[in-house]
Amino acid sequence: MTRRITDGARHRPQITMLDSAEQVTHAAARRILDYIATTPDPVLGLATGRTPLAVYAALVGARRRGVSFAAVTSFNLDEYRGLAADHPASFAAYMRRELVDHIDIRQGHVPSGLGNAEAIATDYECQIAAAGGIGLQLLGIGVNGHIGFNEPGSPFDSRTRKVRLTEATQRANDADFPPGTPVPDEAITMGIATILSARQILLLATGRAKRDALRCAFGVSPDPSCPASALQYHPHVVLICDRAAAEGLA
Ligand code: GLP
Repeated sequence: MTRRITDGARHRPQITMLDSAEQVTHAAARRILDYIATTPDPVLGLATGRTPLAVYAALVGARRRGVSFAAVTSFNLDEYRGLAADHPASFAAYMRRELVDHIDIRQGHVPSGLGNAEAIATDYECQIAAAGGIGLQLLGIGVNGHIGFNEPGSPFDSRTRKVRLTEATQRANDADFPPGTPVPDEAITMGIATILSARQILLLATGRAKRDALRCAFGVSPDPSCPASALQYHPHVVLICDRAAAEGLA
């Protein structure tokens, strides 16, 4: 019989609680740089959203100080369906703007938002496997506990696939789109099982708005109504958060 994710043991994340978002950024960048420095052929899983922006700026700063990313391959979590890679609101454009164009990374992958979703998803999983799997996955968390674009109700054994976005998520990301341009209602995202296959997960959460998301992720039994609660089945989750977000862990 195949072993399900929910058959595994549950774990507590390793929590680093800091006073400010700046300190969270600093600690996260430090961890990523340490991982790169100590791992041959490092494979990073990368996230978009507001939370990792300052981390990417810190990595760009490290590159200016001479750190090389030439051995690094990266895989982003997700992309909007229907957006070409050159659309300014696409995650592909975000990654070029914030990180990839400013460092000497070997290859940065973002799943394509155009074309046959099933073929793209299968190919993405194959590319991750061919790179040796993700060593360190950087993650943010949505206010409803989503990770990547795995919305509440996503199966814990899901792999990369096309998904529908909730109105709440569309609203939360509305500011990234020019006025009058609707946020797409579909995306392609690594699945929860894809994320849990990473050897180590670095979850960042800052601000009061993430309090309830952290509570549902780690304060109660895992349940698909809170996708991030699947992280309890991963033995190496490092959560770096500020005090405001950590109120959800009390
Ligand atoms: C987006 C992304 C997620 C991100 C989350 C939180 O929808 N798909 O990968 O973690 O929302 O974003 P933010 O960091 O802006 O709060």
